[in-house]
Amino acid sequence: MKKLMHELIKMTDDALKIYLNNQKGHPARIYKAMQYSVFAGGKRLRPVLCLMAAKACGLSYKDALPAACALEMIHTYSLIHDDLPAMDNDDLRRGRPTCHKKFDEATAILAGDALLTKAFETALSATVNKNTHKTALAAAMEIAKGAGAEGMVGGQMADIENEGKKHTKKALFYIHGHKTGSLITASVVSGAVLAGASPEKVKLFRTFGEKIGLAFQIADDILDETGDEKKMGKKLRKDSGAGKLTWPAVFGLENSRKKAYKLLFEAKEILGKIDNTAGLCALADMFVNRTH
Ligand code: IPE
Ligand code: IPE
Ligand code: MG
Ligand code: MG
Ligand code: MG
Repeated sequence: MKKLMHELIKMTDDALKIYLNNQKGHPARIYKAMQYSVFAGGKRLRPVLCLMAAKACGLSYKDALPAACALEMIHTYSLIHDDLPAMDNDDLRRGRPTCHKKFDEATAILAGDALLTKAFETALSATVNKNTHKTALAAAMEIAKGAGAEGMVGGQMADIENEGKKHTKKALFYIHGHKTGSLITASVVSGAVLAGASPEKVKLFRTFGEKIGLAFQIADDILDETGDEKKMGKKLRKDSGAGKLTWPAVFGLENSRKKAYKLLFEAKEILGKIDNTAGLCALADMFVNRTH
């Protein structure tokens, strides 16, 4: 599994380098900022999810690479903006100064904007391939929904709106399911859709994605309280300090751990109903059992 993970990450990184290559005549600073944040050592979980889901449904890794890279670009943009002073105000990300610290706020905002738009240019580049022409459009739509106001951005808005407010379970489920769950779900589903999977299979993958997406953010909240700052590469114990609505804040650490494992178990049960999902099963473990 480790070998396969490394291969898929390398494949993704090589493609990202090509997609994010500076075009002559455009401002070097915007490309430098985009590359700085994309190549800062992220775990690449979302692109690997997409590649594995696509492969499980019969598509080659190569044909799924544009969607996989698009997801990592959107994820990186979301982190650049999440770290801005107007949002979580963080100085450290992936063990390095955040984009606005390394460059400046205007550049960080534009780098985020450019990554978001480059993501769709990239995802739609798969439409020129005859194998993926139609399905690439459907996959791009899944990614757009997962990233926008009914997905990740909606979750980020609710996350900010609920800072310092009375904790409710409803708001907690919404925030986690959207700010993090939506893009993770879109990663799995876009891979399956791109491969032309049946609606029944896509539905199973969607439920799998929702469960590991939620488990992933619960693990992030647990690590925010108990993790090792060096390994995490970001400042910890900030979310609770900022009065954020986190899983441990509502349910306590022990119950949060139990919930994350329960979700992982249910996610794997779903995979049991789909062929060729051994890789995804091992990947799901990494969503919960991680130290960074
Ligand atoms: C961090 O995501 C932000 C959340 C959605 C919790 P990751 O933990 O996947 O970040 P990288 O890409 O590995 O840095
Ligand atoms: C970030 O959630 C979610 C998105 C960027 C969409 P967090 O704010 O909890 O992520 P970290 O802890 O800064 O990585
Ligand atoms: Mg945040
Ligand atoms: Mg944050
Ligand atoms: Mg966090």
